[in-house]
This record gives sequence, C-alpha cells and structure tokens, in this order.
Amino acid sequence: MTDRTMEETRSVERVETDPAGGRGRIGEKRKEISEERKEILLRRYGNIKMAAGPGGMGPGGPGAGKPGGAGRRRQGGPGGGPPGMRFAMAGGKPKNASATMKRLLDYIGKDKYKILFVLACVLISSLTGLGGSYILRPVINNLVSADYTTQEKVHNLMLGILVMAGIYIFGVICTYLQQRIMIRVSQNALVKIREDLFRKIQRLPLKYHDTHTHGDIMSRFTNDLDAVGEMLNHTMVQIFSGTITLIGTVTLMFVTNWILAVVTIVTTPFLAYVGSLIGKQSRKYFTQQQQVLGAVNGYIEETMTGQKVIKVFCHEETAIDEFEFLSDELRKRQMKAQFFGGIMGPVMGNLSQVSYALSAAVGGVLCLTVNFDIGGLTIFTNYSRHFSRPVNELSMQMNVIYAALAGAERVFEVMDEAPEAPDPANAIEICSEVDRKPGARPIRGEVVLKDVTFGYVPGVTVLRHVNVTAKPGRKIAFVGSTGAGKTTVTNLINRFYEIEEGEILIDGINIKKIKKDSLRSNIAMVLQDTHLFSGTVRENIRYGRPDATDDEVIAAAKVACAHSFIERLPEGYDTVLEGDGANLSQGERQLLNIARAAISKAPILILDEATSSVDTRTERLIQQGMDQLMKNRTTFVIAHRLSTVRNADLIIVLENGEIIEQGTHEELLALGGRYYQLYTGAIELD
Ligand SMILES: Nc1ncnc2c1ncn2[C@@H]1O[C@H](COP(=O)(O)OP(=O)(O)OP(=O)(O)O)[C@@H](O)[C@H]1O
Ligand SMILES: [Mg+2]
Repeated sequence: MTDRTMEETRSVERVETDPAGGRGRIGEKRKEISEERKEILLRRYGNIKMAAGPGGMGPGGPGAGKPGGAGRRRQGGPGGGPPGMRFAMAGGKPKNASATMKRLLDYIGKDKYKILFVLACVLISSLTGLGGSYILRPVINNLVSADYTTQEKVHNLMLGILVMAGIYIFGVICTYLQQRIMIRVSQNALVKIREDLFRKIQRLPLKYHDTHTHGDIMSRFTNDLDAVGEMLNHTMVQIFSGTITLIGTVTLMFVTNWILAVVTIVTTPFLAYVGSLIGKQSRKYFTQQQQVLGAVNGYIEETMTGQKVIKVFCHEETAIDEFEFLSDELRKRQMKAQFFGGIMGPVMGNLSQVSYALSAAVGGVLCLTVNFDIGGLTIFTNYSRHFSRPVNELSMQMNVIYAALAGAERVFEVMDEAPEAPDPANAIEICSEVDRKPGARPIRGEVVLKDVTFGYVPGVTVLRHVNVTAKPGRKIAFVGSTGAGKTTVTNLINRFYEIEEGEILIDGINIKKIKKDSLRSNIAMVLQDTHLFSGTVRENIRYGRPDATDDEVIAAAKVACAHSFIERLPEGYDTVLEGDGANLSQGERQLLNIARAAISKAPILILDEATSSVDTRTERLIQQGMDQLMKNRTTFVIAHRLSTVRNADLIIVLENGEIIEQGTHEELLALGGRYYQLYTGAIELD
C-alpha cells in the first residue's frame, strides 16, 4: 500500500504538497513535463524502459503518454495499478543473482588464501564472543551459590573475569586482522573490476557510445562500483560471522536449556518472513535507484557539456524542470530504497524483543518450577538477543547484497557487450614504407573500396555500392551535401564500424585481416569533431606519436600553421589546455588537431573538414604545408569549401550515400553536373 500511495503522488503535486519535495525548488512555478517527455528522459539518459501495463506508460495507462494527462490520472482504486510510470524491471531482481555473485566471487578468488585466513579469524572472533558470554553462567552461579565463602566467591569472580577478558582480547585481535585483510582483498577486487570495465569501454565499438550516454556509463563506474565495494568490504564477513554466531548461539541455547531454545526458535520463521518481505521491497527500489542515478548523471553530463547551447536557446528553465523531474524520480526511488533499508533493523529489532520477553518469562517460570539455574537464565536471555541479532544482520545484509548485485549486473552488462571484432589469429601488421617495423608489412598506401554498402542501424543504408580507388600518394577528395556519407566512408576505412557488404583493401589486403591497432596507427586522422585532452599543447600534439621529439612537435605545429598562435600563448608549448581546449578558439583547436595528425608518419591521412573553422588565408597556408606533408601519403580530404579540394587528384561527389560523379576539378566542372552546381553555387538555380 505504501508503494501505491507513494507512486500515486505524482512529482508535480508532490512539489506543492510535500515539503520534502520542495527542497531547493525554483519557486512553485515548476512546469509540468509531459508523460512522453518523462519517459523519454528516463529512457534516453538511463536506458530505463517503461513497461506498459496497468497504469503504466502503455495504452493501458489512462492519461499516460498524453500531454496534460495529469488531470486524468487514475487515483489507484481497487484493481487499478499505480498510475504513471512503472519500471520495466518492476520487481527489481538482479536478473541472474547467482551468476552475478559467482562472477563477483571470481574477482576475489585469487586472494583465496587470504580469504581463508579471514574466515578463520571470523570463526575465532565469533566463537570467542559466544564462549566469553557462556563463562557468565558459572560466574553468576558462583555469586548466587550458598556453597562458597565470600572470599572464594571474589576469587572465582576475578578468575572468571580474567578468563573472559583473555577470550575477548583474542577475539578483538582476530576482528582487527579480519577487517584489515578483507578490506585489502575487496579493494584488490574492486580495482580489478574497475580496470576491466575501463579496458572494456576502450574496446567497445563506437556503436555502443551511439546508444549510451556518458553519464550512464560514468554512473556504472562510480555508484554501481561503490555498491559492489560496500558488499565486498563488509558484507561477506558479516554474513559469515552472522551464520557462525547463529549456529553457535542455537547450539549453546540447546546446551543451556532445550525448552527455552524451542520457544525462542519457534518465533524465527516469522522473523525471517518479515525480513524477506522488507528485503524484497528494498531490493526492488535499490535497483531502480541505481538506474535513475544513471539517468541523473547522464542528464548532468549532457547539460554541462551543452551549457552554452542551453544558454543560447534560453533552455535553462526547461533544463531545471527536466532535471527536477529526474531528481524527483531519484528521490522517490531513494526514499523507498532507504525507507525499506532503514526499517529493516528497527522492525526486526522490535520483533526480536517479543521472543526475548517470551524466553525471559518462560525461563523465570522454569527457574521457579524445575530449578533452572539463574546463571543459565541470564546467559540464555543474552543468547536470545544474540540469536535475533544475526538474523537481523543477515536480513539487513541482504539489502547490501541486492544493491551490490544490481550494481554488479550493470557493470557486467557493459563488460558483456560485444567488443570490437577481435583480430584474426593470423592478422597482418602493417607499417609505413618510411617508418619500417620488424615483422610488419610496409604499405605504400593504396586504398580501395570495393562495392561497399553500409548502414549504422539495420535497415537504414547510408552508403550504397561505393567503389573508390585511391592510388598511393594521391589526394582524394569527398564532396557532397551534408549527411551524404562522407564521414561514414572515413569511419569505415578506419574500421570504426564493420561493413556489411563489399570490402576495403589497403595495398590489396582486406582491412579485416589487418590488426586493428596497426591499421589505425597507419591512418592519421583529423576528425570532424575536434577534441583535445587536458594537458599541455605539446602533449596534445604528441598524442599523434608519443615518441616524437620536441623539434618534430614544432615542425608539425608549423605545418598546421599552429606555431605562431602557440608561441603567443602564455606558456607557449607548455600551456595547459583545459576542458577540451576551452581556452582556445575553434580554429585554433582545429589547428592543434591538424598538428596532431601531421606529426604522425602514417602513410594514409584523412582530413575531415579539418579546416572548416579556419580563415581562408590560414587555410591556404595549411594547404601548402599539408601538400608538403601529403607528398608520400594517400590523403582523403573532405571539405565543404571546395576551393580547398581543387587540386585533388580525384574528386568524388557523394550524394545520399552513392557516388554520382568523379574526376578532377576540371573534368567535373566541364561535366556541368552536381559538382559544378556545388562549386559555382548554382544549386539554388536548379
Ligand atoms: N553514429 C551514427 N548512427 C546512426 N546514423 C548515423 C551515425 N552517424 C551518421 N549517421 C547518419 O549517416 C548519414 C551520413 O552521415 P555522415 O556523417 O557520413 O555525413 P557527412 O557526409 O559526413 O555529412 P557532413 O557534411 O554533415 O559532415 C547521415 O544521414 C547520418 O544521419
Ligand atoms: Mg561529416
């Protein structure tokens, strides 16, 4: 019921009615976001799919999916599900808990001897806890006994206390060791998981990034791994110690008094049932919480990178509204997750008081009727507490485990994504003729596209039967309207995406047979989207060839016409660039990107709109420098400014993914076709 009432209270109403929901709000004027938009936000940023169903986002949900649907929301009557959104993975179960757990345990498997030692320590510290308290029985019986003199009683008491202290100190040492070692083991595992995840992300095809926000991926690195860490750090030890304490306590309870033991244990199934009910809810919302957290992070990441655009189009308020929706969704999930996680302890604690009271009452009666010893009753009531504590702890740990499993599943989900196709066993290594490497086949740089057909998404063909032959050392230009497929051709030559039909050959070798690293290191590329890393100008240029000398860095900068502006920077080549080169102009960023490619000795060069933001004079200068650079390289140039491709050996006109014309500048002008139109601007006259 709590579930339903919470779900019913929609985010907007909540803002006005629930003071908890109003924290940090920009006034009460929060705009309502349409149901469709809400669904889109969750799907787009957190890959959360909403399930259709009673009150869900599907056709079954009255008011759902339609703008203004809020007024028509069902108020959750009998037979009606909670209105609004429902998570597709309602139930929130880790999809395959045992397999995920096994996989997590594999990560700590290599430290198995340390774990065995930890378990031994846990065993000892749990047993010392139990044994220490059992000594209370003779100590108390000694005090109430009439058989000893006072002096003997004091002596026995001191002896008992000393023995207890010795046992407890030993237990404390074991606890210290177990904590230290276990944290080391879990941190070793975490670092391995984190590295595996990062390594995997580096190997994922670009296709993966086309469909996942960076924020969501980052969330897997941070929140999800934190959840896993929490479990590995403490939970495993606690579960083991809880289990031992439980078994030990039950045994000692039977040893102390079997009637009382039965009375106490009879209440256990009830405790366990309540625990599992709460745990189930908690697990469900923990999974959802992690998912929405991914969406929130995704949204933050995108709005931060797009801050300028947001301001230009005055979307600040919309961004705030949308963020508040996501944040509110997170609050709802978190509230529920924390609520169910938090009530577990108190509820179980209170319930266990019942069994405590019961055993104390029955024990008192036994003392009076069957001569049950006072010491026995004291330690038994102690044990009945001991007994419920591990039961509580175990059920509480289940929450941590579920959160960790949900997190681990999201991490493993990325790890299980198909990586870029692996290199075949006999993959060929290639190198440039001028920079030969042992074992690598030198190539001259002939690139042939044979009947290439390709689409990014199934069913949408972007390139159709493209045939291109680029002779070594030639300059090939791709021109054509926006979206024609020019960048796509270069993406394919670099094997960022796998082609469906046709083949691409470099010096007659199918690129699928060439080691991917070797292929890419032999293609220098200036991407259409510039990107610079945090670091100095020098480091950024050297990214193209880490072993380049300082002189080579400067030479490359000169080719790219970047030298003079770099010299003007406060620290010259040692100026630190931050946030994708935010302290540079767009054209300057492009020049650095060109320098980064120019430093490479790769026999194939691809320039995708490399000079689109550079003034025409600088462009001409770059061109002269590049011509020098391109002499022995096969170069692909993509440019909308056609003056830059005039001197190309071959100009290919792409339209809708098909080659419609090709030839030299003069030939194409004489043809009077598409190129002529593009070059002369006559296209509008058509
Ligand atoms: N990652 C992607 N996923 C799906 N479709 C894509 C992707 N990248 C590009 N496309 C689509 O492929 C087509 C060709 O894109 P491409 O980037 O090759 O165009 P282009 O000729 O380089 O255009 P421009 O001159 O604007 O750079 C476009 O219709 C585009 O929408
Ligand atoms: Mg492009």
